[in-house]
Amino acid sequence: GSSDCLRGKSVVITAGPTREALDPVRYLSNHSSGKMGFALAEAAQRAGAQVTLIAGPVNLATPAQVKRVDVVDARDMRAAAERAADLCDIFIGAAAVADFRPATMAEQKIKKREGCDESAIALVKNPDIVAGIAARSQRRPFTVGFAAETQQVEHYAQDKLQRKNLDMIIANDVSSTNSGFNSDRNAVTVIDRHSSTHLPQALKADLARQLIEIIAAKAQP
Ligand code: PMT
Repeated sequence: GSSDCLRGKSVVITAGPTREALDPVRYLSNHSSGKMGFALAEAAQRAGAQVTLIAGPVNLATPAQVKRVDVVDARDMRAAAERAADLCDIFIGAAAVADFRPATMAEQKIKKREGCDESAIALVKNPDIVAGIAARSQRRPFTVGFAAETQQVEHYAQDKLQRKNLDMIIANDVSSTNSGFNSDRNAVTVIDRHSSTHLPQALKADLARQLIEIIAAKAQP
């Protein structure tokens, strides 16, 4: 039945934002709450999977019987994801990973300089976690990404699917405030190489159940 479509499978999910330190008291981050990834973890566990949830800094309770690994920045998240992915069948990247981090982390709190009204932060690129998993030649799980876009949602999602060599991408339009980041609701389009399916706005918990069924069906060998 649909309620145990992931029986015997192992699933790894990343969720939430990453936090990239500038100095001991400041960081760069984004508005991801972790709700989408946590809802997927709960739905996958209920569908019979063994679930590892790699969570950035969020304020959410761990779903029952889910193994949670807490991380702070993108490099921590990648290390935890690579380790967990070695033994998994399905990898889902729902985290909003910071694309860049400050080039250096100051050891002490950065001070204001007298008479200085402008400042700049040098950034360097973070590793792409989901692309790293999808690029594996061995122990490569069925790999699903998300795409958070504010315009030409399907076009950019298709581009990410190909560029990151993903098996599936779940595109959300994050331009509206009643879906996407931090909302309890979301509306998505599920895209793979052959098809595109729109799932209209619903609670993230309900969408997660639908997404897990779609992923389980496509990930069948
Ligand atoms: O957490 P919520 O408040 O519930 O909000 C949910 C969400 C909007 C954050 C979620 O549904 C979502 O869209 N997550 C992906 C957000 C994102 O960063 O999208 P992106 O288009 O920048 O990244 C594309 C994919 O690459 C994602 O699977 C992302 O996890 C992954 N990525 C990106 C950069 C990076 N350095 N490493 C990655 O693995």
